Amino acid sequence: GLPERVTIYEVGARDGLQNEKALVPTEVKAEFVERLLAAGLPVVEATSFVHPKWVPQLADAGDLMTLLHERLGARAGELPVLVPNERGLDRALELGARHIAIFGSATETFAQKNLNRGLDEQFAMFEPTVVRAREAGLDVRAYVSMCFGDPWEGAVPLEQVVTVGKRLFDLGASQLSLGDTIGVGTAGHVTALLDAFGAAGMAVDQLALHFHDTYGQALTNTYAALQAGVTTYDASAGGLGGCPYAKSATGNLATEDLVWMLDGLGIEHGVDLEQVVATSAWMAGHLGRPSPSAVVRALAGD
Ligand code: HMG
Ligand code: MG
Repeated sequence: GLPERVTIYEVGARDGLQNEKALVPTEVKAEFVERLLAAGLPVVEATSFVHPKWVPQLADAGDLMTLLHERLGARAGELPVLVPNERGLDRALELGARHIAIFGSATETFAQKNLNRGLDEQFAMFEPTVVRAREAGLDVRAYVSMCFGDPWEGAVPLEQVVTVGKRLFDLGASQLSLGDTIGVGTAGHVTALLDAFGAAGMAVDQLALHFHDTYGQALTNTYAALQAGVTTYDASAGGLGGCPYAKSATGNLATEDLVWMLDGLGIEHGVDLEQVVATSAWMAGHLGRPSPSAVVRALAGD
């Protein structure tokens, strides 16, 4: 049967805003994070300590974390932040981070484009980062991108995804998030990939799924993963974050769409749907574009 309870890992402030054209003021981001926490989201990823030229939308990561510490106290340290390398780790540690996420690529081309190094070279960057993070007592999540297809390379072999994913996880992560970065995956592919990770010795509770809704498959894919027993799902409030590699206004699976389906299935998640919808409607005002989430549009009205 399906799990009784799942964890929604909210990525709107990071994956969502990093892919929006509009630059959102730091104050608004802080309020966004606070509102998501108030809506009951158990994990709210806040920002990325990456090179500001690579992701200008998140160049205010330090200011945002300082503001969040002022407002939330120790709770700010519990918010995960992306960290690609030791320079990023230093910045995150200075600002009291306790949870970091590294982000690897399952393909050579995306490793080059996203990390400025090759598929194998990425590990030389992540390894010392994770070792030092673990020594400092931090929790580490590992993302792997392009698990279901790559815009330049096309299909990505299951074995390649499993090899890279396991290698990232084995650096010392507590969870591996499998990213459908461009949203091309379909349900049968999800089942096959989860089977392949299982055959390689990974437990279902070590895995999370990170769907983008570019091709409208995110909820169907989530259902396939629920059937396989996965209990952590990444989602972004309002479906923020268009994909830079596809001509699409659709970003991550919307938190509201996920909550609506989970409610219908009787699966617990602890999130207040109305509060997330109100937050997304408020954020849509700041971004100057309507939310692409079907549930937000159905419930928020105009
Ligand atoms: P690089 O240019 O190879 O870095 O970039 P480098 O180590 O050669 O350093 C060059 C300069 O950058 C140095 O400065 C460093 O100090 C500085 P200089 O000495 O020349 O003055 N630098 C930094 N500054 C601030 N913060 C840092 C940092 N690191 C180096 N952390 C790097 C390599 C990884 C830094 C770069 O490629 C980068 O920032 N990439 C980030 C790309 C990114 O954020 N992508 C989006 C997140 S992944 C994602 O969204 C997918 C996901 O959602 C899952 C899915 O959907 O699949 C997670
Ligand atoms: Mg993503």
